[in-house]
Parts: sequence; C-alpha cells; structure tokens
Amino acid sequence: MILDESWRLPVTGPRRTAGELHRHEHAPTLRGTLQAPYTRGRSIREFSDCQIPLKDLVEAVEPLYREVPRAVPSAGSVYGLSFSVLTSATDLPLNSATPVIRRRRGDLSRLVFHRLQGSFHLLVIAVETPRYVHRYGPRGRRYALIEAGHFMQVFLAEAHRRSWAVCPVGGFHDDGVAELISRPPWYPEPVYLAGVGRQ
Ligand SMILES: Cc1cc2nc3c(=O)[nH]c(=O)nc-3n(C[C@H](O)[C@H](O)[C@H](O)COP(=O)(O)O)c2cc1C
Repeated sequence: MILDESWRLPVTGPRRTAGELHRHEHAPTLRGTLQAPYTRGRSIREFSDCQIPLKDLVEAVEPLYREVPRAVPSAGSVYGLSFSVLTSATDLPLNSATPVIRRRRGDLSRLVFHRLQGSFHLLVIAVETPRYVHRYGPRGRRYALIEAGHFMQVFLAEAHRRSWAVCPVGGFHDDGVAELISRPPWYPEPVYLAGVGRQ
C-alpha cells in the first residue's frame, strides 16, 4: 500500500495535547492509493442550457446498479433501488428500465427546496422499502437509505468522469416527487435526488 503525507481528515472532537497533535500531523495517510476512483466535482446548482441527452443519462445510471460485478453493495442482495428521471427535455421517450417523466422547467425547480437554476434533469433514487423491511424488520429502511447513498457516490464519480455538473439533493417535496414517479400498484419511496446538467 502506498502511503503519503498530503491528505488528512479534519480533526474534530476533544482538543488534543501537543504530543497527540504531533503524532496526528505526522501520521501517514492513504491519498495516493484512494483518491482517483472517488473523485467527484463540487455540487453545481446553476446549470447552462446545454442539456445532456436523456439517453446518455439513462445509459450512465443503469449499468452502475445492474451490471455484475455491481458497483453498489446491497444488504442481503435485495437490490431494491429504482430510478426515474424528471426532466424538461423534449427527447423522445426511452425504452429502458428507467422511466422518464416530462415536466415544465419551473415545475422541476419547485420540487426541490434549495434552488437549482437553468436546464437540468432530476434523477430520482427511490427505494422499495417493504422489500428491505420484510427481510430485516425496521432496520431495513436504514439499509435502503445507506444503499441509496452508495449509489449516489458512484453516480457522482461517473458524472464527474463524463464532465457533467451534478448536485445531490436530499431536500425535496417528498409527496410531489412520489406522486410523479409512482406507478400503481407500485409505490417506491423517493429518498435522494440529483440535479444533472452542464455547467
Ligand atoms: C445527503 C445530502 C443531501 C444534500 N441535499 C442537498 C439539497 O437538498 N440541496 C442542495 O443544494 N445541496 C444538497 N447537498 C449538497 C451539499 O450541500 C454539498 O455537498 C455540500 O455543500 C458540500 O459542497 P460540495 O459538494 O460542492 O463539495 C446534499 C448533500 C448530501 C450529502
């Protein structure tokens, strides 16, 4: 394993003695080996009008979750996440596992609390919570949320690789998004969104 000195986690918690601080300052760290696959850009909230083709977005999302070996771990291999795209783009509908739902641009902005501006798609990560709860009881919901976080992390890295601008969004109108993505009798719970576009 390659160790180098260039990167440290911020120090939090109780104040340290001078000796402890010295040991911390000189502790070897892992940046050389770990940084490349985890690279992501800053969160972007102002997008240009140059949209990403829906096809490209869907083609980026689906293999990340479905291709074996999977990029995302899943407790008990439940793999109960599902994805939808809310968009103002006018590309033709896609024949894919990811439903694309068209909205007016202003409607998309209203779905999220922190204002996203310009032209963007909203990738919705939803979970079939009952599948996790059936297997693990109440903690199943926690497992589903952790899995959604794992997915977002690999998606952010993939988006960065493709030079897309992205903002992870946890603050959104739950009922509004749920209503848009639901297809009775199937009611996945939206838990995490990403605004995706170009800067
Ligand atoms: C779980 C989670 C939820 C977030 N929700 C929002 C959100 O609702 N709106 C938003 O604008 N940014 C959201 N963010 C992005 C953070 O604000 C952002 O990552 C943070 O300010 C650090 O900035 P950076 O991503 O540019 O490094 C969220 C990030 C995480 C991890």
